Amino acid sequence: MPPARTFEQLFEGQPAILAPMEDVTGAIYRRMCRELGADLCVTEFINVEGLLRGCRKAKKKLFLAPDDTPTAIQIYGSNPERLAEAAEVAEAAQPAFIDINCGCWVPKIARRGAGAGWLRDPEAMVKMAAMVVDRVSLPVTVKTRIGYGPESDMPIVELAKRLEDVGVRVLTIHCRTAKMGHNGEADWSWAKKAQAVTRMPVIVNGDVKDALSARRALDETGCAGVMVGRRAIEHPWVFREIRAYLDRGELIAPPTPAERLEMCRKHLRAYVEDRGEKRGVPATRRHLGGYIRGLRNGSALRRELFTCPTLEGNLEILDRFESGLASAA
Ligand SMILES: Cc1cc2nc3c(=O)[nH]c(=O)nc-3n(C[C@H](O)[C@H](O)[C@H](O)COP(=O)(O)O)c2cc1C
Repeated sequence: MPPARTFEQLFEGQPAILAPMEDVTGAIYRRMCRELGADLCVTEFINVEGLLRGCRKAKKKLFLAPDDTPTAIQIYGSNPERLAEAAEVAEAAQPAFIDINCGCWVPKIARRGAGAGWLRDPEAMVKMAAMVVDRVSLPVTVKTRIGYGPESDMPIVELAKRLEDVGVRVLTIHCRTAKMGHNGEADWSWAKKAQAVTRMPVIVNGDVKDALSARRALDETGCAGVMVGRRAIEHPWVFREIRAYLDRGELIAPPTPAERLEMCRKHLRAYVEDRGEKRGVPATRRHLGGYIRGLRNGSALRRELFTCPTLEGNLEILDRFESGLASAA
């Protein structure tokens, strides 16, 4: 296990952070990404009501193994008091810090005032964050977007200052509006403006896809670190590629075919052990497609894997494919 670092140290050295992603960044994927260089991880978002009721899903998301560090717990909700209570419960799980989700654009969440819904009332968001900060001794951070939309009305710069004033320690900005969802280009210039008016670290998020875009995002914004979401789902090696470039200016080679196939096996085994075969095998597919992309005959392999429901079958397909690669070489 790496030596424990202070909160401030986590944001030194331009960390490459695994973004919180529902149904993706559970304990298994956090470990995989950390092994490949992710400096810091964040849990999937946890609904405060589920967490306070102690529901099974929330409990599972909340659990952090001793070596799952540094990992932050992210919570979401629309009621400040319930968020503060949930933060207290989350604190007991000993995460590196507590992150409040103020960026989820999904209508059923944002329309109810949770997630990006807070961006429609920045005043209320600041009050809510102040309340959470007051209730826990761990550092509190916020992840949000540049605004709710439309583009003409972006509260993020003023909001950054005010969140810092009430004790929020780090702000992550997904540089799109809530209305954009995941569409359109992320506009990093807002992260630059927010970082310019605050002393707390600002983390730039949105469209950081590789080593070069990570370097560009940091250079263009002056932000303290980058957060990577969707690219990590299909290419967890992105973290070691980013680290090599940020630390040594090296553009390292992509993973070898053998490494890609081994990652498929590892992921399949881990998910099946965790979720059982029926749920575990299909759940790997959003990752496996990316792992094998670009391999010779990769699309045929993909078709075979995606129609095979068993772990054993998938492992056989991968072994056969690898033998084929070896004999073709
Ligand atoms: C499948 C999926 C699930 C997500 N779940 C969460 C979440 O639980 N909490 C959160 O703050 N953001 C969530 N996000 C948003 C990401 O953390 C990130 O802000 C967004 O994908 C933009 O970064 P990217 O361009 O690197 O993907 C999710 C995104 C995806 C694609």
